[in-house]
Amino acid sequence: MNELNMPNHIGIIMDGNGRWATKRGLPRSAGHKAGAENLKKLCRHINKLGLNYLSLYAFSTENFKREVSEVNYLMNLFIEMFTNDFKFLIEDNVKVLFSGRREGLPKNVVKAIEKMEFDSKGNTGTVLNICLNYGSQDEIVDMVKKISNEVKESKISIEDINKELVNRNMYYELPPVDFVIRTSGEMRISNFMLWQSSYAEYYFSETLFPDFNENEFDKAIEEFNKRNRRFGGN
Ligand code: IPE
Ligand code: IPE
Ligand code: MG
Repeated sequence: MNELNMPNHIGIIMDGNGRWATKRGLPRSAGHKAGAENLKKLCRHINKLGLNYLSLYAFSTENFKREVSEVNYLMNLFIEMFTNDFKFLIEDNVKVLFSGRREGLPKNVVKAIEKMEFDSKGNTGTVLNICLNYGSQDEIVDMVKKISNEVKESKISIEDINKELVNRNMYYELPPVDFVIRTSGEMRISNFMLWQSSYAEYYFSETLFPDFNENEFDKAIEEFNKRNRRFGGN
C-alpha cells in the first residue's frame, strides 16, 4: 500500500447490513452487529494507514422511518459502541466528531457521543466524523439558519458570505471529501455530505458492509489511485 496515495478525506456509506442478515436467515439486528464488528477491524486498519479524515454514515435522518424495534436496536448498539467497543479509538489518538442533529436522538445516545467527543478532543491523529441522525440537506438548512442569524445580529454582512464561511458553518469545518465508498451495490448518495463531496470520486462496491474487510478497502484505494481528477481543468 505504501506506494499508493491515500485520499485526504474518505467517506463511507456503510450499507447492506440488513441484506447480509436476511441472506443468512437472521434478524436484521444481527447484520447491524456484524457491521459494527467489521467497522472495528476496518478502523484499526485505517488507523495504521494514517488517514487524515474519515467520515462514516452510521444513521441517516431518514432511517427513523424504520420499524421502532430496529431503530431501538441501533440506538442501543451505538451506546454500546461508543461507551465500550470503540474506546480503543481514544488510545489510538483518533479525534471523534459526531455530525447530525442531536435533538431527536435518545438522551443516553447524546450522552455517549458527547463523552466520546470530549474524551478524544485533544487527539491529533485521524479525525473520525461519524454521521448520526445526519442528513446533508438538514445540515445545509442548519448552516443557512446560523449564517442568517449572524447577519441579523450584524456580526457579519451579506458580502462576507463565501464558500469558506459556508464550510465553517457546517456541523464541523471539514476539508472536501475526496473519495466516497458505498457498499452493497446501491448507486446513490442517500443524503450524505452533498456540500463536502462536490468533487469526490465515487466507488460503488457490491460487497455488503459486514463483508467489506481490509482487503476490500485496499482495493478501493487502488481504484482511487487510477482516477484522473481534473476539477474542471484539462
Ligand atoms: C446500513 O445497512 C445500516 C444503516 C442504514 C443503519 P441497512 O440496514 O441499510 O442494510 P440494507 O440496505 O437493508 O441491506
Ligand atoms: C444510507 O443507507 C444510510 C446509512 C448507510 C447510514 P440507507 O440504506 O438508509 O439508504 P437507502 O434507503 O438505500 O437510500
Ligand atoms: Mg440500506
